[in-house]
Order: sequence, then structure tokens, then C-alpha cells
Amino acid sequence: MCGIVGYVGTRPAVDVLVRGLKRLEYRGYDSTGVAFETPRGILIEKSEGKLERVESLMGANPNADRSNSVCGIGHTRWATHGKPTTTNAHPHRAGSVVLVHNGIIENYREIKSELLKLGYKPESETDSELFGYLVLEEMKAGQSFVNSVRRAFKKIDGACSFVVMDEKHPGVIVGARNGSPLVLAKDPQGGAILASDAQPILEYTKDVYFLENGEVAIISPQGVEIQSLETGARITPAFVTLNWSVDQIDKGGYPHYMLKEIYEQPSALVDTFNSSLDRSRSEPFVLAPHKGVDLLMNAKELTLIACGTSYYSSMIGKYWLENYGEIPVNVDFASEYRYRSSVLREQSVLVGVSQSGETADTLAVLRELKKKNVPTLGLTNVRGSTISREAGGTFFTYAGPEIGVAATKSFTTQLATFLMWAGALREKHKKGSGQKLFEEMIQLPHLLKSYLEGDNGVQKKIRSIATQVQNKKGFFFIGRGPSFPIALEGALKLKEIAYIHAEGYAAGELKHGPIAMIDESMVVVVLAPKDHWREKTISNLEEVKARGATIIGVGDANDSHLKDLSHHFVALPAIENEDLSVFPLAAVVQLLSYELAVLKGTDVDQPRNLAKSVTVE
Ligand code: AGP
Repeated sequence: MCGIVGYVGTRPAVDVLVRGLKRLEYRGYDSTGVAFETPRGILIEKSEGKLERVESLMGANPNADRSNSVCGIGHTRWATHGKPTTTNAHPHRAGSVVLVHNGIIENYREIKSELLKLGYKPESETDSELFGYLVLEEMKAGQSFVNSVRRAFKKIDGACSFVVMDEKHPGVIVGARNGSPLVLAKDPQGGAILASDAQPILEYTKDVYFLENGEVAIISPQGVEIQSLETGARITPAFVTLNWSVDQIDKGGYPHYMLKEIYEQPSALVDTFNSSLDRSRSEPFVLAPHKGVDLLMNAKELTLIACGTSYYSSMIGKYWLENYGEIPVNVDFASEYRYRSSVLREQSVLVGVSQSGETADTLAVLRELKKKNVPTLGLTNVRGSTISREAGGTFFTYAGPEIGVAATKSFTTQLATFLMWAGALREKHKKGSGQKLFEEMIQLPHLLKSYLEGDNGVQKKIRSIATQVQNKKGFFFIGRGPSFPIALEGALKLKEIAYIHAEGYAAGELKHGPIAMIDESMVVVVLAPKDHWREKTISNLEEVKARGATIIGVGDANDSHLKDLSHHFVALPAIENEDLSVFPLAAVVQLLSYELAVLKGTDVDQPRNLAKSVTVE
């Protein structure tokens, strides 16, 4: 989950590292640090807390060696082994070796006891620091720096990546990958940069190389070299050109990335439709051809595996795929599916759904099933991500970079993709039967844009409601049909960014227990678009209303019954196919948690204890 940057070249290295770490803070922000070469050896500056702490330390202590350095590494941490203290912050030093690490060393206890026997005294509680001593031992035994990193890396178990410097080898940085991602690029001004993802690199170049597992990268002012971890043999890297731009990773005038990303949903939908469909064809739902499309179209059953918000989008995907695509669909949490024995039908296709493409549990299921020869698909927002490279075929969402830890546009673009899959399968069963759905679908970006940005943009209304309910004890979100996963998503968002206790429930389940919680101190958000389930949801609402909770109704603008029952009412835009109400509903729950988080003064984009991509189990 941590973020890593390494740079060597002609630019001021610490500047490159700090700018890069700002782009990577979404991966973890418990503590931060940089290490850079100086004429007196490698200096480390680090602190518990966010990058700004290290920046202010530096500001208070100007240092010419720091400004002149052209080689260094940096790290932003999401603590696993050891508390988020300055001592446990990366970079770590082991003699002349200085390193940063992302991931977990599973056999760290064994390694630690061996190192203690050899007389080493690790300073931190981390597993990471131990790797430095392993490298040092190899160098003591006469191995070169690069071979020492290779040999040390082979001694550890677990998915991780390291980036390492050595005082005796100035101007050289070695990165090794097994599991946790590492991306490499040549700096057009000379030298090279290594990072956990492409975002720190984009301002210098869009041509990047995603290291494969079992590869080692050596960067120096002369350029880059890739070697096999196992044999040391040279590998020719196949660079790819990314289509993300630097503008997409700035806040663009919004106070938070999350808000910007909520407002980017209409254009993210347009990009996802345009890039996923074959626009040269006039028939509806012709998917742009690639390996994944054949796997999808020939599947007899789909098993969608995901975590968090991606799991909720998969639940909605199931409704559409079964309803329109007439294909059986299973949905499960990756962390649950992973440890139970499951039975898949013939020609079942496993789909790993993950915006980051790096989530450890989702990836583990994909790998496991691949080993059993089950065909696999990935659905992700990140090109070059591990899931995108390991799945048998990959579909991409085109949400652009999502920086806020809370998933927003990646969620709605996943929904868009499931809708296109459902439409394509419908067309497969009967040509022309998807036409109406297609026409309804392509109106969604415009509909959502007017809902968010029109004269009466919904955010203003939601802000006023949030102000009135901000001091309530807890929230229930209820819905039926496709609105049920939106209820789950609303509750997740509220917990995640506003730290308010919230639960999402299938409306019909309230009376089986949770209704005991309902009193004047609670808010119930009722998601009741004018669909097939509305009436039933409304009768569940009557039960709640009688117990004194504050009701926020979300439904059709003309739904006077729902309005009468609600203390606060959010009108949805008129939508022909009510199945598609989930798009504006998603915007409502996203904005409600955003506004409550702002009122509570939490760190909206980087909520406590979380990270954007969860690369540990
Ligand atoms: C969503 O707001 C959360 N940050 C989280 O639940 C996230 O959706 C989950 O960790 C899965 O991530 P993925 O889509 O990158 O696999």
C-alpha cells in the first residue's frame, strides 16, 4: 500500500521525490521520508505524519547538499509492521545501504532471528529494515551491489517491492519487484525515475515500463537496465505510452479531489462508453474487440470477485447482467471467496473487479483460479496494473486517475461497463433487443451532468440537508433492487470519509433486527426511485417513520407520498429506465458523505487508517 519514488538524473532529486510523493500519498500517509546522496554520504529526512511534516522540517533547515543532490529515494507509508512513528518511517538504513519498501516480508521473524544471531541490531519494528541487512551481508560476502539486492530478494517470502541505494555505489538505484507494483521511465533530460505507479512520472514523460514480478531495475544517469531476479540475465523492457495527463491529477479548482471526481463522472462515462464500444458500428453494444470480449461473450456464468466499492458495483452488475444479459452471475467478496471451496459451472468466467487493479485479495483469487484453468477477466481503471496484466483478458474503465481514497468515478464507470456487458449479451441472444437500453444508456452522461451542474445543482440541496443532520448519532441507508447496493455504498462512504456510523440495509430486512436501533437520534436515508421496488420500500419507510427517525427521502420529483413521509427530500432527475437511477443515486450518496465530512472537518481525500490501493491481505 505504500508509495515509493526513486530518482537519479540531472534535476534536483529531493524536488522530484517530494512532488512524486504528493502524487502517491493516496497509497498511505502514516509517515513519510526521503533519502538523498550528498558528498558526505546518504542523508535521510523522515517523520511520522504526512509529507508536509517532512517538508516543514526541510524548510526549517535549509541545506545546500539537499538542493544539489541528483539521486534519491522517497516513501509514504501505510503501517503494517510497527506503529506509524518516525523510527519506523522509511527510508531505513542498514550500514551503507538505504532502502524503501512496499508490501510485506512474510518470513520476517525467521530473518530477524538470523540477523540478530549475526549481531545486527535493527532500530525499527518494521520488516522492511531487515532487507537492508540481507543486502549488506551479500555485499560483505563479495557480491556486487545489484547481485546483492537480487540474492537478498530471493530470501524473502511475500508480495513486495524494494528500492535500494548504497553509499558505496553513488548514482545507482536498484528496484526489485515481486507482487507490489513498480513503474519505470527514462527522464528525457537524462537519468530515470522509478515509482509505485505512473502518477509521479507523468509530468516528465508518458512512456513507462511496468516491471514484471521477478524483475530488477537498475537506474543511473546513463539510463535504465532490467534484469531477471532469478538469473541476472538482461531483459529488454517494452515501454508503453500512457494516455493520462498531468492536468487530470490536479485538483482543478475544487477544494478536494473527491469533489472534483464526483463532478467528473459525466465525462468519465462518455470516455468509458467511447473507448469500450466499437464506435464504427451502428448496432448497439458492439464491444471494441479484444481478448476479453470473446471470453465474456462465450461465458455460461460469471463470477464477480471484488472488495469494497467494487463489490457493490458488482452487485448492481449482477442485476443487469441477469436481467438484460440472461447470464447467471455470482458475486463475492474476494477475501471470503479466497478461503472457501467454491463450485463453478462449466464455462464459468471469473472476473476480478478492482479500480486499482492491485487489491491483494482480488488478485489472489484471480491467480488461484487461473492455476485451476478457470478463464479470468479483469475490470480495472489502471493500465499496466497487476490484475490487468495477469487476467486472461482485461476490460478498462476510462475514469482517468482517481486520487481521492473514496472511490467515486471508478464506481460509476464500473457500472457503465457492466451495463455495456449486459447489453452486449442481450444483443447476442437477440439482435436489436438492446437498442432501447442502448439509447437510454447513452443519455446518462448528459442526465448526470445536468443533475450535478444544472441551475439547481443537487449539491446545494444536499449541503443544506447535511447541515441539519450533522449531529445525528447514526445513519441507515435503505433500498431495494439495484438501490440496495447503493445503500451499502452510501453507508461505506459515510464511514470512510466522515467517520459517522452508518449501515446499509435491504429495506425489507430492517424489521428483522436493525429496526430496534431506530429512534429520534437516527437518520434513515431512503433510496426509493420510481421503480418496480418503490412501493415496498415506501412501506418499509412507514415502519421507520413511526419510530421517530429523521427521514431523508431520495426519489422521483413527483413522488408526493415519499415527499410527505420525508423530513428532507432529494429529487432524482426524470429517467425513462428506472434501473438506471443508480447513477444519480450514487451521486446523491457520494455528495451526502462529502458534505458531512466537510462539516466534520475530516481529511476528505486521505481519511484516517485507509489507503487507495489495498495491496496487503
Ligand atoms: C472505496 O471508497 C474504498 N476506498 C474501498 O472500499 C475500495 O473500493 C476497495 O478497497 C477496493 O479497491 P479496488 O477497487 O481498487 O480493488
